[in-house]
Amino acid sequence: MEPWKTAITDVGKDTVRIAGYDIVDLMASRTFTDTIFLLHRGRLPSVAERRLLDAALVAVADHGPSAPCAAASRMVATANRVAPEAAVAAGVLAIGDAHGGAGLACMKVIADGLELAKREGISIEEAATRTVRDFRERRDRLPGIGHRRHSTDPRAQKLFALARESGVAGEGTAFILAVEKAAAELIKPMPVNIDGALAGVLHDLGFPPVFGKLVFIIGRIAGLTAHVTEEYLREKAMRIHVPVAYEGPPPRSLPDESNSDRT
Ligand SMILES: CC(C)(COP(=O)(O)OP(=O)(O)OC[C@H]1O[C@@H](n2cnc3c(N)ncnc32)[C@H](O)[C@@H]1OP(=O)(O)O)[C@@H](O)C(=O)NCCC(=O)NCCS
Repeated sequence: MEPWKTAITDVGKDTVRIAGYDIVDLMASRTFTDTIFLLHRGRLPSVAERRLLDAALVAVADHGPSAPCAAASRMVATANRVAPEAAVAAGVLAIGDAHGGAGLACMKVIADGLELAKREGISIEEAATRTVRDFRERRDRLPGIGHRRHSTDPRAQKLFALARESGVAGEGTAFILAVEKAAAELIKPMPVNIDGALAGVLHDLGFPPVFGKLVFIIGRIAGLTAHVTEEYLREKAMRIHVPVAYEGPPPRSLPDESNSDRT
């Protein structure tokens, strides 16, 4: 069998090296955030890069038990008391285009928008306006824009502020903010949400679009594990009763098939 090729980790007889660095040295002097950056980029982050990735991970760590992913984890934890991995996995599976997973699509929108600006020789603002018009005509939702609970997402604002302070904020950040402005004019005022802010900043940090969703998963697993633990330690098994309003046919009898000639 051909060997699997990888540039990520090399496991020797008594050594483990991530992108060439001994894991023991990383354990002694580097952070988990450094290691995530190293695993995905093959190099250690600068101080500013570490600060921003760390802030991104904190921003997505949790959003309360009613967030779809945490609710899914708790639902499984209440019924299955011996498999925390199943409960955490259920939460991860609830992450999608409408919840927590818009970063991937948003990073693609940003990359396409910036490409359009370059190709057509137009400003970022003009490219953002065209993007919003496109989405509006297709009656599609702009990923990274809008929030069910926040009129201004405080996590997004802080991430932008940190990106500006550390000199990381670039075209990605500028583009998503231009989309927010154009959407307010062409659709209605809606905030850049945390997925959109992550997408802008991760673009500026040089991550590929898929990382826009993966970063949410990496960070949110911290919150999901806490929800599963709390469910196990504080709540009884099967405690969740979902209110249900039945809207189907009323009670009825099965048809009599005794005279049927069906075989
Ligand atoms: C987050 C989200 C699901 C909230 O949806 P919501 O509670 O229905 O939003 P609102 O009640 O504020 O607004 C509803 C209207 O605004 C429009 N709208 C909301 N978000 C929009 C978006 N991102 N792009 C374009 N229009 C949007 C919708 O078309 C909707 O009108 P409609 O019901 O006639 O179709 C929604 O904004 C969305 O789908 N955003 C994109 C996905 C995303 O970024 N998810 C990550 C969330 S952290």
